[in-house]
Amino acid sequence: MATKKSPAARSNELRALLHHHGHRYYVLDRPEISDAEYDRLFNELKALEAAHPELRTPDSPTQRVGGAVAEGFVSVQHRVAMLSLDNAYSVDEIREFEARLSRALPGEAFRYVCEPKVDGLGVALLYERGLLVRGATRGDGRMGEDVTQNLKTVRTIPLRLQGPLAATDLLEVRGEVFMGRDAFDRLNRALETEGEEPFANPRNAAAGSLRQKDSRVTATRPLGLFVYSLSDAPPDLFATHWESIQALGEAGFKTNPRSQSCPDIEAVVAAVTALEGDRAGLGYDADGVVIKLDSLDQQRRLGSTTHHPRWAVAYKFPAQQATTIVRKIEMGVGRTGALTPTAILEPVEIAGATIGRATLHNADEIERLDVREGDTVILERAGDVIPHILEVVIEKRPRDTAPFVFPAACPVCHATAFRPEGEVVARCTNPECPARLKESLLHYGSRRAMDIEHLGEAVVEQLVDRGLVRHFADLYALGVERLTELERLAEKSATNLYTAIQASKGRGLARLLFALNIRYVGENVARILAMEFGRIETLSEATEEALAAVHGIGPRIATSVALFFRQAENRRLIAQLGQAGVQMDERASTGPKLLLGKTFVLTGGMESLTRDQAKEAIQRLGGRVSASVSKKTDYVVVGADPGTKADDARRLGVTILDETAFRRLLAD
Ligand code: IVH
Repeated sequence: MATKKSPAARSNELRALLHHHGHRYYVLDRPEISDAEYDRLFNELKALEAAHPELRTPDSPTQRVGGAVAEGFVSVQHRVAMLSLDNAYSVDEIREFEARLSRALPGEAFRYVCEPKVDGLGVALLYERGLLVRGATRGDGRMGEDVTQNLKTVRTIPLRLQGPLAATDLLEVRGEVFMGRDAFDRLNRALETEGEEPFANPRNAAAGSLRQKDSRVTATRPLGLFVYSLSDAPPDLFATHWESIQALGEAGFKTNPRSQSCPDIEAVVAAVTALEGDRAGLGYDADGVVIKLDSLDQQRRLGSTTHHPRWAVAYKFPAQQATTIVRKIEMGVGRTGALTPTAILEPVEIAGATIGRATLHNADEIERLDVREGDTVILERAGDVIPHILEVVIEKRPRDTAPFVFPAACPVCHATAFRPEGEVVARCTNPECPARLKESLLHYGSRRAMDIEHLGEAVVEQLVDRGLVRHFADLYALGVERLTELERLAEKSATNLYTAIQASKGRGLARLLFALNIRYVGENVARILAMEFGRIETLSEATEEALAAVHGIGPRIATSVALFFRQAENRRLIAQLGQAGVQMDERASTGPKLLLGKTFVLTGGMESLTRDQAKEAIQRLGGRVSASVSKKTDYVVVGADPGTKADDARRLGVTILDETAFRRLLAD
């Protein structure tokens, strides 16, 4: 049997393993182990480092999620200015770029590299002897902001370089931080459920995420990075840009798989055309292709203007626009009661997609555009994201139009719509508005909430219109027979729906809280509340102060949650859900189980929590508490005046946690 490794040796081993598997997963997209196995290794390292803080290294994978809240960002001067790029808008202008090169370097041949011009934000990463020491935004090109802690949360940025580049004293690497389109959509949906303003586009989302004061927030934002240059390195390390990018790939960075080495300008034109055609399928926004001269020697000899390097040009994809007519402006009602206007359009094609509607966001936006029914508008799909109306073609406005009047009442239930001072959104004030109820039910049953399969739009529509469901709890009273009465629901589908509704009773507190549609309570907040309070009774009794004292819960959320549980109709709803058999504690659920498979032994008294509280906290995270220490014990938590169990732990080489280390482990 293998002897137990020392904590130092084991933590080194774990770090190496986690580096390896993190790189396989995030950079190469070819994992070798399951997510659960990765989490197990990660948690083991985290616990070891909690018990032995001196073993924590700056490049440890646990250091990606910092935690320190920045007051503001420190300005940093870039070692080498981050310049802009000259633009080209046609194939002719690409050829003109080569003609300029030939004039400057007569008689020489040119090879190129073509890279997608990812629409994110440029960053500069500084490595000293392979260790990431600083990461900064581009800023104005000369001065940027130090966002090291936030960049460390980006999984495709290596904290320590691999291979030969790791030995170099000083390296600066540049790349583009971006957010993929799917991730952007998911983030915006989550922000909306938490009552936050969504981002206008993935670029803003990436920039906003990178400039968060709390790196734990950045860590939840799915940012990516493609490296595009080795901007500062000892001279003569590489002869070509292409080689340097390959080397950065070997050092652990994610390089853009769509970058291409091109032997001549014809190959460049082909590469640019191909990328333009595939633009929609890239998964992220790209606004063009950066064409770079490959030879670093030629680059040096050409140099830069104060604005851009002479050896590169950005070919910009043509904007994707179309002109069409607004048939109608339709008002919808969301589950928070928000009135959302949509322009119904004469269908029009932009870059292969047929567009029939465009969101108008809110009253301010309609006013800004002065868009009216019957107007001709210019529609744009910026970087292939959701199309929006750019402007109205006033010359084409029919004679008899009137400015659009934003309704003062809910278009569905006709209750007053209220727009608080300073907010852009008007909301229906009727809590029983059928439109809100329908949206709320769809949310309640959605995959990330109570996950009720088959509870789709058509079913919800009928359940509400027939008066069968007035609130969530009514769902659980529906029998198969009732459901079969619905249109287009044969017995088999009705049975499936019934089973799905019943199964949703066991989803646990975190999902339930998310499902309940409490203002500002999105998935994350719901999980934090469930973890902290464990049971809905405890949560519903918590004061605003107690709520706001929880890490990750701000005053706005605290007020909203306290208000929700004060309202009689909500208390009634919770009671009815409870009677229906919906589980309202977190232990029974499938939340994150960070201590899954770990065995604890508690000995001695702790100052900040009782034995029962400690036990409950461990169990809530999936851990087990046992009475005696054995080789299978993972941790012995030692308080004041411990018994012989502490000695047993030492003898058997089991990790010992004092109260501080234990609390840190739970808090982590
Ligand atoms: S090269 C001195 N390569 O585009 C060379 N830039 O207008 C300039 N960008 O802010 C940068 N993808 O952040 C380069 N493959 C790529 C790029 C890229 C996106 C951004 C970059 C910069 C802007 C230049």
